[in-house]
Amino acid sequence: MSTIEQFNKYVMPSYGRYALVLDKGEGRQAVDEDGKQYIDFGSGIGTNSLGYCNEDWVEAVCEQAHKIQHTSNYYYTKVQADFAKSLCETAGYTDMFFGNSGAEANECAIKIARKYSFDKYGKGRHNIITLVNSFHGRTLCTLSATGQDVFHNYFFPFVDGFINVEANNIDDLRAKLDDTVCAVMFEYVQGEGGVMALQQDFVDEIFRLCAEKDVLTIADEVQTGVGRTGKFLAGDNFGHKSDLTTLAKGLAGGIPIGVCLSVDKCSRVLTPGTHGSTFGGNPISCAGGLAVLKKVNSEGFLDEVSKKGQYIREKLLTSPEVASVSGIGLMIGIELKTKNAGDIVKAALDKGLLLLTAKSKVRLLPPLTITYEEIDKGLDIILGLLNS
Ligand SMILES: Cc1ncc(COP(=O)(O)O)c(C=O)c1O
Repeated sequence: MSTIEQFNKYVMPSYGRYALVLDKGEGRQAVDEDGKQYIDFGSGIGTNSLGYCNEDWVEAVCEQAHKIQHTSNYYYTKVQADFAKSLCETAGYTDMFFGNSGAEANECAIKIARKYSFDKYGKGRHNIITLVNSFHGRTLCTLSATGQDVFHNYFFPFVDGFINVEANNIDDLRAKLDDTVCAVMFEYVQGEGGVMALQQDFVDEIFRLCAEKDVLTIADEVQTGVGRTGKFLAGDNFGHKSDLTTLAKGLAGGIPIGVCLSVDKCSRVLTPGTHGSTFGGNPISCAGGLAVLKKVNSEGFLDEVSKKGQYIREKLLTSPEVASVSGIGLMIGIELKTKNAGDIVKAALDKGLLLLTAKSKVRLLPPLTITYEEIDKGLDIILGLLNS
């Protein structure tokens, strides 16, 4: 039985998968079972931030696995304390909570927002504004938060208390941000929604209104965070710092982690027994995360992310088939004029390039460490397919 047959026999079919079995990876190249190489313009889905098997990352992770792989959250480990310090200092937050995924990080932020409001104002101020076309995760609560009807099927009843506002519609925001609302939650760049950056004036208004009404701001930076947009947090591109920021995907370089960062004012909302996670803060993930933070914090690294993003954009825009290029830094959406994004991704796979889609766009989330040579190779394939 082939790997694919065996997998499909035993694993629930919740994903549409490509017929590709990846066996190993090195740098920015993945290798399949037959030894064929693929340049990776997807990094998982933005998770392998340092590419495959980055030496410092492997060393950190292996050293930690040899030392202590897990302990319950009734005890402390130094690697967790070191990671938390480094992350809070890098991101400019006072405190954080440890989970294992983006959805968990968002669940935590939602719980903090509701409890912050409950503790201060009592019942009835529990609604959270999220944006149309957002994506916040696959748990029932984060699906409910997600502002896309396509996700609101089958699993009824969904979690109550989410109000959708149209992205970039200031009037809609003003009309719906009433005294039942405890938080506004948003992605600076809607990733799954088609790599759509919010407009500066809309973001400004979110922060202005929330400050005025003591409503918390929650930035879901699960996809945009950890250097992806050329700043450590995408919020830095907009000059804003949310009360709560969630991170996951690229944070530990490809092993599970999810965190909710908090500013001082809501950093003590969670008290013993109000939230938890058995695996949250896994020491191996923390060790991987420390290696990622060290690299991302190194001199000039984030500027390079911006420059590479700009380089890719300029090259893509030379194609007559490209209608527009969206996103910030190395988070890139390519809107096509006539071709189908899914067809391009499949054709690229045959030619040895891994791509992603987001809605009707081709999406690129290459490893942050990608070289110009690798970018050129990948772009040759993309442009070849688009211009043929
Ligand atoms: C912005 C955003 N939030 C949350 C999630 C959910 O993350 P996870 O799949 O790790 O639960 C994703 C995943 O794509 C995401 O892009």
